[in-house]
Amino acid sequence: CGITACVGDGDVVDTVLTGLKNLEYRGYDSAGIATLTDAGVQSHKCEGRIDDLVDELGGVDLCGTFGVGHTRWSTHGKPTDENAHPHTDCTASVAVVHNGIIENHAELRGELSAAGHLFTSETDTEVVPHLIEEELAAGKSPEAAFRAAIDRIEGSYAIAALIEGTDAILATRQGSPLVLGVDDDRRFLASDVPSFMEFTSRVVYLHDGDVVRLTLGEHEITDAEGEPVSRSIDTVEWESEDAERGGYDHYMLKEINEQPEALERTINGRITDDGRVALADFPPGTFDEVSEVHFLSCGTSHHASMYAQQLLRDRGVPAYAFTAGEYATTPAPVSEDTLVIAVTQSGETADTLASLRSANERGARTLTVTNVVGSTAAREADEALFIRAGPEIGVAATKTFTSQVAALLLVVERLTVDITGTPSEDSEAVLTALRELPDAVDRLIGSSIASSLAPRYAGSEQHFFIGRGVAYPVACEGALKLKEISYEQAEGFSAGELKHGPLALVTPETPIVAVFTGKHDTKTLNNVEEVRSRGASVIGVAPESADHVAAAVDEFLPIPDTNPDVAGVLANVQLQLVSYHVANVLNRSIDKPRNLAKSVTVE
Ligand code: G6P
Repeated sequence: CGITACVGDGDVVDTVLTGLKNLEYRGYDSAGIATLTDAGVQSHKCEGRIDDLVDELGGVDLCGTFGVGHTRWSTHGKPTDENAHPHTDCTASVAVVHNGIIENHAELRGELSAAGHLFTSETDTEVVPHLIEEELAAGKSPEAAFRAAIDRIEGSYAIAALIEGTDAILATRQGSPLVLGVDDDRRFLASDVPSFMEFTSRVVYLHDGDVVRLTLGEHEITDAEGEPVSRSIDTVEWESEDAERGGYDHYMLKEINEQPEALERTINGRITDDGRVALADFPPGTFDEVSEVHFLSCGTSHHASMYAQQLLRDRGVPAYAFTAGEYATTPAPVSEDTLVIAVTQSGETADTLASLRSANERGARTLTVTNVVGSTAAREADEALFIRAGPEIGVAATKTFTSQVAALLLVVERLTVDITGTPSEDSEAVLTALRELPDAVDRLIGSSIASSLAPRYAGSEQHFFIGRGVAYPVACEGALKLKEISYEQAEGFSAGELKHGPLALVTPETPIVAVFTGKHDTKTLNNVEEVRSRGASVIGVAPESADHVAAAVDEFLPIPDTNPDVAGVLANVQLQLVSYHVANVLNRSIDKPRNLAKSVTVE
């Protein structure tokens, strides 16, 4: 979900709606807005996207200098008008927007219902306005009532509230993201910076437990104990145009095309002229004591972690990529010599944060690799490395994956030198290939024939993706991308595993996408034969000089020749384009696939 809020010296309705539109990638099941004026709290909400809300507001006279908004990704309760935020109390004098999960909501709802409060939704959030109402009725001031209500709830939350009788927006966070935007005469709040990036680049990252009071041109922050605290104002470097669609039909296509510049930023200043890794915060020797590496991540980020795991193992470093949701409940043993790396583009994924906290509590050394400066994962790990991909709005990750892998390649080379005492055999070739990668991606995008293949394969019974070594996580990522945005059945397998079961599903209606990097290709070609002999068509993604692959497959998608450890990144770009064009042929909602959200801040 995404929450946003604004206080200004004029009507803020349009600003709140813009802020919501900019956050729609966080969820789009329902949307709502509330304002506070001398006449009280007014609130409007509906099932559907922000555009549906805007249509509804067309016939409504809504205004106010204090506004809060919400775009929802459903957790408790279906996507209906009733379950949309803001939620209000019985007298509709308190309006609340919330992102996260209130774990003790059932108990609180029981208690409040017994005291006569009427609930109109199935959400966990609705207990909050009723709790505030209860405290107001007991004679507390609005701010004291807000604090008392927050003290009663357990779980993770970012909450913003409008309360009649205050000239302020009150907000707090605990385990869910909330950022404050500072302009001369306006204040903004949002789950993520892109919400208000076109209004201001000055931001304050709130800490867990902070309560913020926004008034005209001012903000006051108090900590969990109610003591005033000062939090620094940072300037974000992203330009607001970076987060707009430009001339592209979809953000996803724009972001695929932005990968050369994103990669330039990722590696900029991090490889020396004589071919060594230079990470400002991680000089040689930083990781001398590390004996083992764990990666924690979800979804696409997990595939980037699997890629890095493979490279570390190739270099003799024990490495394990875990899905964060599993690690949070059944963590692997760690010692102080274990380096635990959380890989998360948003830095806010609840599963990843839970697993990172488990590693922190058990004494491991922790590092976050993320795109978002000031994110919770960046703050909670011992160290952070930023991938500098720029804002990504399409729900399906593209440029963040590419930049994650590039950043992890640098980490892998630094770890290898520190842990084994010598650079990897291929270090120079890998770093040279990494430096050439932005150009190679640019050439690939300019020459890809993925769009011409798409009509032939869209609508197939199912799609299998196979690969070995780093081509295996690339195959998994290719399948994930295709299922996310085209809704086609797709699975990624280690090429050798195909014959151990999934082969039973292969028919002439099963296109097989085989990924080659120049390493382990002969064995993967054997697997290609196994499926071709069952009548399946094979699309080979491989270095352009791999004539033996081109001769063995039905369709050939070439990538520029490069080092095999880097080739997987290029192969993935071809697969992004395949998914994009298949989804486009099928006329899918590419930037906002059904049921998904870019940043999932609940476990
Ligand atoms: C969600 C998104 C995925 C993403 C995953 C992890 O499920 O839909 O695209 O890969 O979260 O996100 P993170 O921000 O931790 O990389």
